[in-house]
Amino acid sequence: MGAIETHGLTKRFGELVAVDNLNLDVAEGEIFGLLGPNGAGKTTTISMLATLLGLDSGRASVAGYDVIDKPAKVREQIGIVFQDPSSDDILTGHENLYLHGLMYGVPRAIIPQRVEEALELVQLKGREDDLVRTYSGGMRRRLELARGLLHHPRILFLDEPTLGLDPQTRQRIWAHIESIVAERKVTIILTTHYMEEADRLCDRLAIIDFGRIVALDSPQTLKDTVGGDTVQLEVVNVEAAATALENLECVSRCETRDGRLDVAVQDVAQNLPAVFTAAGEIASFSVRNTTLDDVFLHYTGHDIRDESAEGVAKHMHRVRSVNR
Ligand SMILES: Nc1ncnc2c1ncn2[C@@H]1O[C@H](COP(=O)(O)OP(=O)(O)OP(=O)(O)O)[C@@H](O)[C@H]1O
Ligand SMILES: [Mg+2]
Repeated sequence: MGAIETHGLTKRFGELVAVDNLNLDVAEGEIFGLLGPNGAGKTTTISMLATLLGLDSGRASVAGYDVIDKPAKVREQIGIVFQDPSSDDILTGHENLYLHGLMYGVPRAIIPQRVEEALELVQLKGREDDLVRTYSGGMRRRLELARGLLHHPRILFLDEPTLGLDPQTRQRIWAHIESIVAERKVTIILTTHYMEEADRLCDRLAIIDFGRIVALDSPQTLKDTVGGDTVQLEVVNVEAAATALENLECVSRCETRDGRLDVAVQDVAQNLPAVFTAAGEIASFSVRNTTLDDVFLHYTGHDIRDESAEGVAKHMHRVRSVNR
C-alpha cells in the first residue's frame, strides 16, 4: 500500500481546473516532489490530501485512509508546513511547539522531550525562549519544520519549504529534511518551484503545469529523457564534425548555432573522448549539465519562470473553449 494514492483527483474553482485528473502513487519513505510554476495547483493538491479542502472528483488516500471518508484518521498521520507562515509570532518558539504538542494529542508527559528533540533537529536551541516575532525568516521556517514533525507524523507535507530564503539557509533546511528522512521513516511530499531543490531532495517528482502532470520520474531519469548533457564545441570544420557526431550512438542531438556546435550527449563522462575524436580539430569546448529547467521546458514548451499574464490568459481561453 502506497503512502499516498490519488486517482483522477480534480479540483475546480469556477471555470478554472486547478487540479486536473491527478494520478499519484507515493511509496512509504519516499521524498516526492510536486514541481511547477505559480498557480500550477501544488498547494491545492496538498490541501486536498491534508483534508483542508474538498475535492470535486476522483479520490485520494493518505496512509491507507480515504481523505473524504476518514479525514480524522488522515489527520492523525500527517504533519504539514504551510506555504504561508503559520506560527504564532507573539509566542516564543518553545511555546509554539508546546502548544502544537497539546493540540495534536501528544501525551503531556512526553511533550517536553519532543520539544527538545525538535529544537535540536532544526538547531534552534538557545533561541527557543525568544518571541517568534524576533526570528529571522529562516529561523521561522525551521521552527515550522520542527512543529510539523513534533507529533511524529508518518507523512509530512512541506509546501514550498524554502520559499524566499537565502541560499545558505536553504541548504541548511535541505540538510534538515534529509536528516529527518534518514533518522525516521517519514514520507515527504514537498512542493517547490526551485529546480535545484527538487533535484537535490526528491526521489521522484511530478512536473505539474496548469493542474496536470506533464512528467513523473526520478530527477536523473527526467534529465536523461531530454537527451543528456550538452557539449558545446568550436571546431575547425563544422560540417564534417556535425556529420561525424550525428553518427555517434551517444549523441541524441547536434545543432549548429553561430558557427558553434551544441551536442546533446548521453553519459557525457563516459563518452566525451568519442565526441572529441569525432569532432576533429577543436578550438574550445564546454560542458553544460542538463537541469530540471531544461526538462520543464522540454515537456511544457515554456520556462518555469514564465508567469506572464498572457500565459494564464491563454490557458483560461483554452479552459473556456473546452468547457463550452
Ligand atoms: N480559493 C480559491 N479560489 C479561487 N481560485 C483559487 C483558490 N485557490 C487557488 N485558486 C487558483 O487555483 C490555481 C492553483 O493555485 P495553487 O495555490 O494550488 O497554485 P500553486 O501551484 O500552489 O502556486 P504557487 O507556486 O504560487 O504557490 C491558481 O490559478 C489559483 O488562482
Ligand atoms: Mg502554492
